[in-house]
Amino acid sequence: MDSISQAASFVRSVLKERRPIVGIVLGSGLGKLSESIGDRVEIPYKYIPGFPVSTAIGHKGAFVAGTLGGKYVLAMQGRIHSYEGYPMEMVVLPARVMAALGIRYFFVSNAAGGVNYDFRIGDLVILRDHISMIPNPLIGPNRDELGPRFPDMTRPYDPALIALAKKVAEAKGISLREGVYLADTGPCYETPAEYSFYRTVGADAVGMSTVPEVIAMRHAGIPVFGMSVITNEAHDDYAEDFENNGDEVIAAADLAADRMTALFAGMIEAL
Ligand code: HPA
Repeated sequence: MDSISQAASFVRSVLKERRPIVGIVLGSGLGKLSESIGDRVEIPYKYIPGFPVSTAIGHKGAFVAGTLGGKYVLAMQGRIHSYEGYPMEMVVLPARVMAALGIRYFFVSNAAGGVNYDFRIGDLVILRDHISMIPNPLIGPNRDELGPRFPDMTRPYDPALIALAKKVAEAKGISLREGVYLADTGPCYETPAEYSFYRTVGADAVGMSTVPEVIAMRHAGIPVFGMSVITNEAHDDYAEDFENNGDEVIAAADLAADRMTALFAGMIEAL
C-alpha cells in the first residue's frame, strides 16, 4: 500500500462508518473553526502512519472530524508547508488522504498579506484565481489513478461555490472581498519590492501555502473553495519601526475566524 492508502485506511478505521463530505484546511490562526464542529473526533497527525507533523506556529497538527452545517466534515487543523523542509508530495498528502476518503468538496483557508491597496486587516477574501511561485506538487511521474498528466486549471476555484459564498455572506451580513492569491515559498515575509512586484503582476493577497493543495485537489477533480484572511497590509510607506510578525498574523487571523466559520458552516449547510 502506498502512503495515501495507508493513512486513509487508518483514518477510515477511526471514523468507522462515518464518511466526510467536505474536507477543510484551517490556515494559520484559523483553527478556532474546529470548535464549531459537533461530535468531534480528533486524530493527531503523529498517530497517522507516514504523516508529516506541522511545525508552523498557529498549526496544531490534527484531523478533526465531525458535523458542521449539518454535514460530516474532516478538517485539517494545521497544514504542512514546503518551507518546513517537507517535499511537495508530503505537503499535499493530507489533502490526498481526504480525497481518498471520498470528500466531494475541498474548502481551503489561509492567513495572507494584503497586497491589494483596498484590503484591510481582518478582510475575508474569496479566492477567484492564483499565481504560483513555488514548485508544482505534480512534478514527477504522473499517478494516473489520482488524475491526468495535464490537469486543466481554467477554474481553479469553483464558480458555483464562489456564487454560494456570496449568497450566504449576504444573508448573514458578512462582507467579502475577492481576489487572486499568490503563493511564494516563505518563510521570510516579503520585501517591500516583492509586495510591489506581486501587486504589479496581479496578486491581491500573498501567502506561503494553499496552491499545492488546490493543485492536488483539482488534479483529483474535486471542486475547491478558497479563502484568505488578511492579517497584514503591504504598504509603500511603512512606519519606521514597522515589522511583519508571525504572532500578530496569528492574532489577526483569530479575530476573523468566527466570521469565516459562519460563512463555511452556512455554505456547507446549503451544499
Ligand atoms: N506574506 C506571506 N505570507 C503571509 C503574509 C504575508 O504578508 N501574511 C500572512 N501570511
